[in-house]
Order: sequence, then structure tokens, then C-alpha cells
Amino acid sequence: MLSKIAIGDGHGEESPYFDGWKAYEKDPFHPTKNFNGVIQMGLAENQLTSDVIEQWITSKPEASICTPEGAKDFMAISNFQDYHGLPVFRNAVANFMARARGNRVTFEPDRIVMSGGATGAHEVTAFCLADPGDAFLVPTPYYPGFDRDLRWRTGLQLVPVVCESSNNFKLTTKALEEAYEEAKEDNIKLKGLLITNPSNPLGTIMDSETLKSVVKFINEKNIHLVCDEIYAGTVFGEPGFTSIAEIIEEQDVECNRDLIHIVYSLSKDLGVPGFRVGIIYSYNDDVVNCARKMSSFGLVSTQTQNLLASMLSDDEFVDRFLTESSSRLGKRYRLFTRGLAQIGIKCLQSNAGLFLWMDLRHLLKKQSVEAEIELWKTIIHEVKINVSPGSSFHCNEPGWFRVCYANMDDSAVEVALTRIRSFVRQDTETKVPAAKKLCWQSSLKLRLSFNKSRNIDDMVMSPHSPLPQSPLVKATM
Ligand SMILES: Cc1ncc(COP(=O)(O)O)c(C=O)c1O
Repeated sequence: MLSKIAIGDGHGEESPYFDGWKAYEKDPFHPTKNFNGVIQMGLAENQLTSDVIEQWITSKPEASICTPEGAKDFMAISNFQDYHGLPVFRNAVANFMARARGNRVTFEPDRIVMSGGATGAHEVTAFCLADPGDAFLVPTPYYPGFDRDLRWRTGLQLVPVVCESSNNFKLTTKALEEAYEEAKEDNIKLKGLLITNPSNPLGTIMDSETLKSVVKFINEKNIHLVCDEIYAGTVFGEPGFTSIAEIIEEQDVECNRDLIHIVYSLSKDLGVPGFRVGIIYSYNDDVVNCARKMSSFGLVSTQTQNLLASMLSDDEFVDRFLTESSSRLGKRYRLFTRGLAQIGIKCLQSNAGLFLWMDLRHLLKKQSVEAEIELWKTIIHEVKINVSPGSSFHCNEPGWFRVCYANMDDSAVEVALTRIRSFVRQDTETKVPAAKKLCWQSSLKLRLSFNKSRNIDDMVMSPHSPLPQSPLVKATM
């Protein structure tokens, strides 16, 4: 009785990626109410700089239409529904995009198209560039949401380009050529290449040479290049981020700009995923026009546009926010990697994003996906931490795990580290009696001192969550 989309499993909800979230939701960690619960480290959320935004909002009551100072604009803002968006909003977003890229490049406000998060932006871009059955190449490991966002309703296919740990998962022309040729042999019509820079899950940045080789490749093959730059401003340390927008400006780069499209969002760089602000920035006029019409299905509320227009055109605030965010992320990254290094756990060296790509290959019983999932189940059920297994990111080498570290306060990080240390020690001391296994949980409790100024109840699910419990439901319960 229902459509193929409705009865199919294209959403990908049945995967360890989402199962981990469900395990967390059933038994969420709380420093006082549920100390032995699951710690959510599977959610790429940036909560480290929320206080900076809160301060700005408090100091600018006129920026909101829901305050006595801003209510005079209520009628105009609440009635506005043009799919071009508020001009001040597009200007402010173009300004923020440039600042998040170190002001080395500018963006034209007229090319900014809105969507419901980067999730919506990817789907709209796919609808504009490909027909059902067509395919995009995607380097692995990649963000699991792409399987839903690009494929589910559009009928697009994703063809993996295998990247390996031997060169730190760097994308090579050889890997691109191999995937391209293989797809051709299978009669798959390739329409584009999707890259994520900085990478989720790796937290690494693509260097200029790689980006230039990518531009050369897509021009030679005459296919589109979609660049997900959602973490452009979520970078701490060297090497700095280079946007595709900078590369195509370079003198020695020959490029048909009609093939270049950027997907962006404020979910990560500004830490406001609930606002659902996604951006399609295309250099192709026809794509801009079509995407704008399609944006009717995923407009950003004008109330949100109005608030962000003020916030993001405040240059002093934007620069301070980005600097502070980078500094806090770097500090957290160092805290976590150092803690892991002390117990012999290595991570891929990275300097961007909200996560680590942790190497647990030495803890696998066998080098297989089954063994990876077995280890992941132990981590969820015994260590009580939700991390995401590499196989859910289509990583072709078992034993890698993505660990998010920016969606909690320092004390929760400390609890997570202590649990991991305890687990690794047990594993290396080999097969400890079951009774001893639980000891770490109670001894941990004694040692925990948590920062009361941060509320761990704030650790809520993403709007993409398959779970029914939204923050709002929680607040009204
Ligand atoms: C690489 C990447 N693209 C897109 C998204 C979706 O972002 P949004 O919340 O803006 O829809 C995410 C979210 O984690 C992501 O990591």
C-alpha cells in the first residue's frame, strides 16, 4: 500500500551508528543521577562555545523579535516567506563563510541558497546534479549520513573511493582513477565526486596539492565536484584549512566553475545544529536557480534568519567566537589524545572537526568487521561509551573508531578517559575475573569532581536522531 521509499530501508536507521545512539538513550550517563550510564561520544556536536553565543544574545535583546526591544519587527519578520531569504541574512552568511575561511576568499550573497541544514543542502544538490541511478564517487571513510542524505529520496548511488591508513587516508588520484574505471566497467553513470574537507570522521584537512589534483580529475572527467565544508571554521592548529573556493581562484588551476558546488551549514562552526541552517553555494547559475526553487521544501525560519543576520554581521563577535572556539577545541583535543596516549591508544593526527579517529586495531581478536563490531559492543555495553565503529563510515580497515569529544564538559571527558584506561588495562592484563570488571565503576564515582556550571542534561540528541525524545519533549515532561 505504501511507496518503495516508505517501505524500504534507505534511511539506514538499522546500523551500529544509530544503534549506539539508542543504547545511550536507554541508559544516558548523568554525573549524579546515572553515573554508570552510557556516555554519548557518537554525536558530532560543538557545545564548547555555547556560552559565548549566550552572552551575545543577552547583550543584544533587539536581535530577537521575542523581546520587548525587538518585538516591533515581529509582523514584518513573521510574514516574510520569500525563498530568496532575507537579504541581510544572505549578506551575513556570506560574511561568516569568508571569516571562517580566514577572509582569504569572498562569497557572493546572491549565490547563497538556504536549506534545512547541510542534510537538506546535500539532497537538493543531488537533485540538481543527478538523475535516479546516477552516481557520485565518495572517498572513504565518510560521514554515514551521506547514505541517507544523498541516496534515499533521490535514487542516487554512492561509489566508494578506497583510502587507506598506509598514507593516513589521504585521497590519491590513483584511488580516484581506480574507482572511476571500476564504476565505468559496471555501467554506472558517474555524475560527481563528493569530498568532505575537513573530513568527518578523520578530522584531517586536505592540502592544496590534493585539492588541485581533485579539481584536475573532475575537469578531465567532466563531472561535478561537491565540497562539504561544514567544518571549515572548526579547525585548531596547523595546517590551516584551504577551501575549494581558494583553489579555483589560483592562477595555475584550470577549472570549469560550473562544476563546483559547496555545501555548508552553521551546525558545526557556530554550534547551532537545531537552527537547521544549511547552505548551497554553487558557482553554476542554473544550479543556484534550481536549488533556490527547491529550497521551498526546506527554508530556514525568518525568525532564525533575523537573529543570525544580526549576530553574523557583528565582525568583532564573529572573529572572537571563531578564535575562542578554535582554542577550546584544541585544548580539548590535546586533553583527550594525551589521555589516550598514556594507555597506548593512538589516533590519526588531526587538527579539525569535533572528533578523533581512534586506532584500536591492536584490540581486535581478528582483523575483520565482525571482530570490530564485537569490540564495539563491548565498548558500548561494558565500558559504557558510545563511539562509532569505522565500518559505519565505510572504512575498509577494521579497528578504527570515531570518538566525539566536544559535546560534553571536562568532567565527563575525564570519566570517559578513566573508563577507557580501565578497560584497556583489563584487556592487556588479560581476562580479568568478571567481579573485578565492575570495580572501576564505583571507584570512578569517588574520584569524580564535576563542574556544576555545565548541565549534562544538555547532552541531547541531534534532530537527525531516530529517537522520539527531542530536547523540547524533555523540557516539557
Ligand atoms: C560532513 C557532514 N555533512 C553534513 C552533516 C549534516 O549537518 P546538518 O546538521 O547541518 O544537517 C554532518 C553532521 O554531522 C556532517 O558531519
